[in-house]
Amino acid sequence: MQIDHLFADRVKTLKGSAIREIFKLASQPDMISFTGGLPAPEMFPKKELADIAKDVLLNDGATALQYGITEGYDPLKDIVRKRMEDINVAKEQDHVIIVSGAQQGIDLAAKVFLNEGEGIIVENPSFIGALNSFRAYNAKLYAVDVENDGMNMEQVENLLKNNDTIKLIYTIPTFQNPSGITMSLEKRKQLLEIAKKYDIYIVEDNPYGELRFKGNDIPTIKSMDDTGRVIYVGSFSKILSPGLRLGWVVACPEIIQRIVVVKQVNDVHTNIFAQMIATQYMRKHSIDEHIVKIRALYGKRCGWMLECMDRYLPEFCEYTRPEGGLFIWCTLPGEYDTLAVVKECIKRKVAFVPGNTFMADMEKPSSSFRLNYSTMSEEKIEEGIKALGEVLHGLRA
Ligand SMILES: Cc1ncc(COP(=O)(O)O)c(C=O)c1O
Repeated sequence: MQIDHLFADRVKTLKGSAIREIFKLASQPDMISFTGGLPAPEMFPKKELADIAKDVLLNDGATALQYGITEGYDPLKDIVRKRMEDINVAKEQDHVIIVSGAQQGIDLAAKVFLNEGEGIIVENPSFIGALNSFRAYNAKLYAVDVENDGMNMEQVENLLKNNDTIKLIYTIPTFQNPSGITMSLEKRKQLLEIAKKYDIYIVEDNPYGELRFKGNDIPTIKSMDDTGRVIYVGSFSKILSPGLRLGWVVACPEIIQRIVVVKQVNDVHTNIFAQMIATQYMRKHSIDEHIVKIRALYGKRCGWMLECMDRYLPEFCEYTRPEGGLFIWCTLPGEYDTLAVVKECIKRKVAFVPGNTFMADMEKPSSSFRLNYSTMSEEKIEEGIKALGEVLHGLRA
């Protein structure tokens, strides 16, 4: 069917093919998959949520099945607000709203701020869902390298000096997706200073912040901001369940009011039944104790994957050693196109994601790739990394 000429320009700029094909292959039952950012399904509190779901429907079905308000279900908003106040993310004047996953929070922030052609600074590499959201608004992506301690601040400042259309910086400062890197405290402070100096806003996306299994917490950028220029996005996806599609945004009232208006247009409100389930879960159970268990599992799997990588990968591979989150970022020297490495590994039933997927310029081959460690057993991790090692040794030869 000849229909492409009718599609809007904003969707024509969206790319997705390579990763989708890989995900399709990775979902084959015999594949060892290090692809997605999926939480370990064995950690979902299925029994608890089943009981709560039934209880909610039987006892307050009229609310659960009715329209809700755009800002979110009040009891859930209160719980989230308290949690955000405890880490100084929500200040007295801030507003909190519940959104349909962090993805929606990012998208709404972009929609509120970015006119066509206007600029947003992003980390290179970064989260593909966010990059695609910015692309869909025909925003111009200005990519900044991610170093071992976070974004290269010189590049940020140079971009801002030379482009007065840039309005936003999008960053995942803690256990970044895809690199696993955490921005240092110094750089967080620097970024805030730069944002103030050039009068731009920061979207701080923090779905992994609570998944630290090593080292010490670093304050969020939002917690250090007293000027209202940080839009903080959080998520229940990695600490409870992504299927519930629950996230939140904390920002100054002026921004939240705009976000609420565009959310009304997008989906009226976040699934009220899911919000009630999450609320009851946190009333009846300790989500913090649950998070401790998730952290322990991921810490073990990450440590084991790194051990296997040390053992089986050739010396020329460099990789990050995350202290939390879900990902390890591996880089080969020189000009490899890791898409070829991924294809070769898929033949051996091991899948992961080539680095170009996460770049502002996806067309350019990348010598990096992302490994996820949260869903595979230790046995599968070893088997997969061993196969990857064989492919990489072969490449060098
Ligand atoms: C950095 C980052 N932000 C946002 C999201 C989206 O999360 P949610 O499931 O809450 O929409 C993800 C999902 O993997 C992510 O990695």
